[in-house]
Amino acid sequence: MSQPPAKTLTAVQAAILAWFKAESRELPWRSTRDPYSIMVSEVMLQQTQVDRVIPVYHAFLKLFPTFQSLADAPAADVIRAWAGMGYNRRAMNLQRAAVQVTSLYEGVLPDDMKSLRGLPGVGEYTAAAMACFALGQEVVVIDTNVRRVLGRVFYGPSGAPDKSIASTAAQALPEGEAWSWNQALMDIGATICTSRRPTCLLCPVRSDCKAAGTFLSSSNSVAEIRAAYKTKPERFEGSSRYYRGRVVAHLRELSDGVSCDLQSLGLVVKPDYTDDDEPWLLTLLQGLQRDGLVALNDQGAKTEVALPL
Ligand code: ADE
Repeated sequence: MSQPPAKTLTAVQAAILAWFKAESRELPWRSTRDPYSIMVSEVMLQQTQVDRVIPVYHAFLKLFPTFQSLADAPAADVIRAWAGMGYNRRAMNLQRAAVQVTSLYEGVLPDDMKSLRGLPGVGEYTAAAMACFALGQEVVVIDTNVRRVLGRVFYGPSGAPDKSIASTAAQALPEGEAWSWNQALMDIGATICTSRRPTCLLCPVRSDCKAAGTFLSSSNSVAEIRAAYKTKPERFEGSSRYYRGRVVAHLRELSDGVSCDLQSLGLVVKPDYTDDDEPWLLTLLQGLQRDGLVALNDQGAKTEVALPL
């Protein structure tokens, strides 16, 4: 960052921490320090909104309350419990991570970044989130919300250059307060300092923020600034992720042990399915099989598809 005066940094830290105490959301994973529950929440939150995650999080923990119970569960049960979340591959990675924690680390989440990063489905962000939220370490946790909030506060409306955000976040981290600080930045990013319509009037740091003046001054410039954040929306319907989701959603509905032949499955996921689509469907299914989300069973000339056991 263009080094903020120490006075400003201290004011920003104090205002954000005070706001967090008074105004932050009560979220179920904030009232626990159980590493397993926090890992489940962080994996769920990787690509799914808080409102959608909450009910699935509670139900998932009821079914699989520990690393061991998740590691021992039939894959089909885990895939069913993930319903409503999308990106089903995460469910299988989470189960593989539970297997690793139980087999390599005696059921205790490892406390170093290298081992955390070695768990399936755990990238830089999730490893840092677990280090801070589950293990109480004083580390920065940088997701898109945190990046946007710090970028605006310390650099201005177009945010921080990519190469600067890690050192900016490290400099801004208040000593001994990493847990509250990181949770607070995520909340401010999700509720006030939103990508499209930041509500600076509600923000505890508007008086020290390099972007607030621009956002508060004219709607024209907000439109321009918004454009800077626009990412090209991906077309979902018809994408491979769309069809993968439809396949798993259908197989989830079948009773245990019941499978489905290629043609019936094809017609369910793609109403205009014909025999010419079979190679496409098989390629899609092989990808899902690699991710542990379906089991393919060759019965003579026929292929049967089901959730894995
Ligand atoms: N997204 C990822 N982790 C989160 C958390 N702890 N609180 C709110 N949103 C989140």
